[in-house]
Amino acid sequence: MEMNAVMQLSEKSSRCEEQQYTLPDMMELLSIDVEVNSGPSNREEPALICSKNVMRKQRNWERRLEAKKSKRKEEKQRRKQNQQEKDVEHQFSKRVIKAITKERLEEARTSGPRLCVDLSMTDCMSHKEISRLAGQIRRLYGSNKKASQPFHLFLTDLERDGLLYRECIRMNAGFLNYLIDVTEESWIDLFPSQDIIYLTPDASEALDRVDEDKVYILGGLVDESIQKKISYTRAKELGVHMARLPIDEYMVKKPNPKNFHSKILAINQVFEILLTLRHTGSWITALSSGIPAGKGYMVSSEAVPR
Ligand SMILES: C[S@@+](CC[C@H](N)C(=O)[O-])C[C@H]1O[C@@H](n2cnc3c(N)ncnc32)[C@H](O)[C@@H]1O
Repeated sequence: MEMNAVMQLSEKSSRCEEQQYTLPDMMELLSIDVEVNSGPSNREEPALICSKNVMRKQRNWERRLEAKKSKRKEEKQRRKQNQQEKDVEHQFSKRVIKAITKERLEEARTSGPRLCVDLSMTDCMSHKEISRLAGQIRRLYGSNKKASQPFHLFLTDLERDGLLYRECIRMNAGFLNYLIDVTEESWIDLFPSQDIIYLTPDASEALDRVDEDKVYILGGLVDESIQKKISYTRAKELGVHMARLPIDEYMVKKPNPKNFHSKILAINQVFEILLTLRHTGSWITALSSGIPAGKGYMVSSEAVPR
């Protein structure tokens, strides 16, 4: 009888390995065999009753195992179906979002406030700065795409045989399909000069609001070598209105170990501030969320929302 039980045990354990049973399954299997070993020899029960018991338990165990297996299979199928449904939903919502974005950008091209990036000053920049400018154009466009009230964007003075154009194509996936007006012409020839507001950190006047009828110009410059007043000089020469962000009006210098404070931002940062201003109507919100902490400024406790 003991030999029999040992054989059953080894036969079942090899089945366990083949079928990869879980630990509780194996424990259950072992418990049957322990009874086979201890039962008849201790209590001297008839062999027939014992073997019937073992068979009954074995059948029960197999039934339960079968039920578990089919439950696991059903569960797996259910999860698969849920995932498929989620994928379809995701694809659908992605397509809807894409369509809404396109619609908003198209609408902005007919009625949104206009903003040009003046790309006529690439001669003042190194190869590295030009590549960084291409990256900033990508971020600026990305922000416009996400905005609920986008601008009508223009890249002016962008020469098609120039390094910046090549860098834009190389670095910005889908650049040629951007919903943006790209031209080799200058903004000064495209718009009436009285509608222009050239944004420059060196202007004496602060920008008050974003006016739907105006054309805002950002100087396409990345100046790691800090070349001062380039955009200011250009706007002055062309005799157009200039404005700076109202940093002095709403912010104060924040003490920092390097005593570093700068009001000069990248074009995509200035643009993000204009988008937030348009969306919220609050300079405090726009400046505090748009000016990076590293610039060394914080909103003044005395700033009054306008
Ligand atoms: C990196 S800045 C260039 C700074 C450069 N030294 C210059 O001559 O203007 C790039 C552009 O972002 C805009 N900009 C940056 N900071 C600004 C600020 N505080 N106020 C208004 N415009 C700003 C301007 O259009 C500027 O030409």
